[in-house]
Amino acid sequence: MKIILCGYMGSGKSSIGLRLAESAHFNFQDLDNFISKLDSRSIRDIFSESGEVYFRKLERQALEQLLLLEEDTVIALGGGTPCYGTNLDFILAQPDVQLIYLKANIGTLAERLQSNSTSRPLLSDLMTENVRTEFIAKHLFERSFYYEQAHHIVRVDSKTKEEVIRECTRLF
Ligand code: S3P
Repeated sequence: MKIILCGYMGSGKSSIGLRLAESAHFNFQDLDNFISKLDSRSIRDIFSESGEVYFRKLERQALEQLLLLEEDTVIALGGGTPCYGTNLDFILAQPDVQLIYLKANIGTLAERLQSNSTSRPLLSDLMTENVRTEFIAKHLFERSFYYEQAHHIVRVDSKTKEEVIRECTRLF
């Protein structure tokens, strides 16, 4: 079985995913880390040296490889993964996959992304807090169409990590 976490940057996919995997005795895979290893470069370098289209192709290849794993695994996607090409349909067509959307509102995301937006290529050029918040609002609106098709939606606003993990665990 695969538990797959999707959601916007800063929604907690990687940190919740790791802890969820530990508590369920599943393996854990972070798609961005997997891509970085495949390409021997950081996500930031892949974007800046080879561009986003190259990254999206690699992201699809990496996703396919992770979905072939036989072991029970929690997979944290990148924020854009379900929103490009046929990735979402591909995920939903897999047997034994539960896709969970970690849903955060704009305020939560803007706050969480203030401090570490420089490491995120899509946010790193947005200089002021207002510009970043505006971007996140519009981007989240566009992406929600994809995220909302997940099998389950778990709201993360004002919840501790433990509460979110407990909610996710109750789903499977
Ligand atoms: C992206 C999110 C990032 C990473 C890449 C693109 C996106 O992952 O995959 O920078 O398109 O939202 P996180 O959501 O883990 O930050």
